[in-house]
Order: sequence, then structure tokens, then C-alpha cells
Amino acid sequence: MEHLAVIMDGNGRWAERRHLPRLMGHRAGAEALDRCMHYCKAAGVKYLTVYAFSTENWKRSEEEVSGLMKLLSSFIASKEKTLVKEGVRFRVIGRRTDLSEKLQSEIAALEEKTKDGDFTLVVALSYGGRDEIVRAAMKFKGATEEEFAACLDTAGIPDPDLIVRTSGEQRTSNFLLWQSAYSEYYFTPVLWPDFDQAEFDKALDAFAHRERRMGGRLK
Ligand code: FPP
Repeated sequence: MEHLAVIMDGNGRWAERRHLPRLMGHRAGAEALDRCMHYCKAAGVKYLTVYAFSTENWKRSEEEVSGLMKLLSSFIASKEKTLVKEGVRFRVIGRRTDLSEKLQSEIAALEEKTKDGDFTLVVALSYGGRDEIVRAAMKFKGATEEEFAACLDTAGIPDPDLIVRTSGEQRTSNFLLWQSAYSEYYFTPVLWPDFDQAEFDKALDAFAHRERRMGGRLK
């Protein structure tokens, strides 16, 4: 499998069950992301895309939104050296102009510093699939699907093979709408901060047993 995408759901519930503030759940979620990146690399996966903040997430409390933004900013600051050292290319998709100018410039600097990495971590921020398609349509001058895909935020990134959603919800929630045309889905009740190596292996194993016809016939 080349590209795994994850809807990292359940951070809030993970924290609430422990009588902790929701933000502690997001912090634990950021650590789970760090671990997941390592599982991916060890399994030979080349791209990991994670849904970190949707266009809808702006409706959450000011406290939660600003806490998540701070978490992203500190993730960028604290991971810079490790990402460069480990050959991880960092890339953001979504309506990045919604983010503070400070965060936008931190993101651009990290993208530049990590551009030679051979494993790609794509973080979806202020991301919505429909929003991405509308923005692509504004730029589109061509006639083919390939030319349209090149106008999306994910230009140059292969479509995800598998999309995992944690915490038991079985919805796509506006994630990678165009790119998921032929993706497999895997849903698990496990909350994102608890997503460990065993859960990762289960997801990849389930994927390995799917028959992917991609609209064609099996040979
Ligand atoms: C969904 O859980 C998760 C989010 C809205 C945020 C995801 C963010 C992170 C894992 C951390 C930051 C990411 C990076 C790149 C450092 P929820 O809050 O909807 O959980 P709930 O459904 O249980 O309330």
C-alpha cells in the first residue's frame, strides 16, 4: 500500500472518559499521529494523510480551536529536526489562508525545509473536500480528470488506497472527496489516541484481503 489516509476521530471522547479537558485528547492524538507515521514507514507506506482540522471545526469553542492551532504550531516547532532527519516531507492541504499568518509562515517554512523527504506526511487543515473541489474549479482550464486533479491541493500525491476512520463513526465527512473514488474504507471503534501497532496491523490486514476491482473486472 502506497497511501494511507486517516480520519483521526475520537480525541474528545478519549479525554472525556478520563475526565480530562478535550485538548488533552488532541494532545494524545498528536502523539498517536507520531506513532502512526512510524508504523507507516516500517510497513513501506509512502504517504500518510491525516484529517487534523475540517472547515466545520471552526464552529467549535474558541478555546478548543485556539488550543488546536497552538498544538499544530508546537508540533511544527518541535518536530522540525526529526522530520528532516527522518526524511519526512511535510505538506498541508486545505484552505490555508484561513489560518493565522504566523501559522501559515511556519507551515511554508517546514514544507520548504522538508521538501526532499521520501515519506510524505500530508496534514489536512481547514480542509473540506467540497471546498477543495470548488477552489480547483476556479483554477481549472483543462478538459481531463488528470488536469483537474492537478488543480487540487493534493496535486502530485497518489490517491489514497485505504481510508481509516477511528471511533466508530461510519461517514466520510467531506474528506478527500475526489481522491477517494476508488479507496477502500476501514472503520474501527478504537478512539484515535488508542490507535496502536496492533490496530494498524489489523487495518492493513483487512486491506490486504479486499478485492480491488477499481471499476474493472478481476483478471
Ligand atoms: C477529532 O476528534 C479530531 C480532531 C478534530 C482534531 C485532530 C487533531 C489531532 C489529532 C492533533 C493535531 C494534529 C497534528 C498534525 C499535530 P474529536 O474531537 O471530534 O473527538 P470526539 O468525536 O470524540 O469529540
